[in-house]
Amino acid sequence: MAELLTIGELSARSGVAPSALRFYEKLGLIHSTRTGGNQRRYERTELRRVSFIRISAQVGIPLETIKEALASLPANRTPTRADWARLSRNWRGHLDEQIALLERLRDTLTGCIGCGCLSLRSCTLANTADRLASRGPGPVILTDPPTAAPPTAESE
Ligand code: FES
Repeated sequence: MAELLTIGELSARSGVAPSALRFYEKLGLIHSTRTGGNQRRYERTELRRVSFIRISAQVGIPLETIKEALASLPANRTPTRADWARLSRNWRGHLDEQIALLERLRDTLTGCIGCGCLSLRSCTLANTADRLASRGPGPVILTDPPTAAPPTAESE
């Protein structure tokens, strides 16, 4: 198996279009060397970076955030298991937030999400007269859930 991949080979194996790979490279997310004829060649290990970028973007993580995460990996050598573990630790909080958001979306999409539309019967209770607008723009029940659980009979 070749040590260096052409952009076409990287694209075929990763499932990411060459134009997107060039864009990722322009942003400094992935790296290549150039042949004498000025053609890009990628270390095979770039496949893991591309996969990380692809999946992260697929779940809605901004490229700038992905770039910050990847910046913790060494650019001048192949990332080791320890390098990926360090990135994973730094990345965990962000992933936890995304998972929580997706869970709220899954669990509340049939009910009021606090977006101001007042189109569902449940909006009457959850967002009477759009009082949730005071918490900010957007579907605040999804994006800005209460941080503290409501008091229970035992905690009062
Ligand atoms: S779903 Fe939009 S305000 Fe309730």
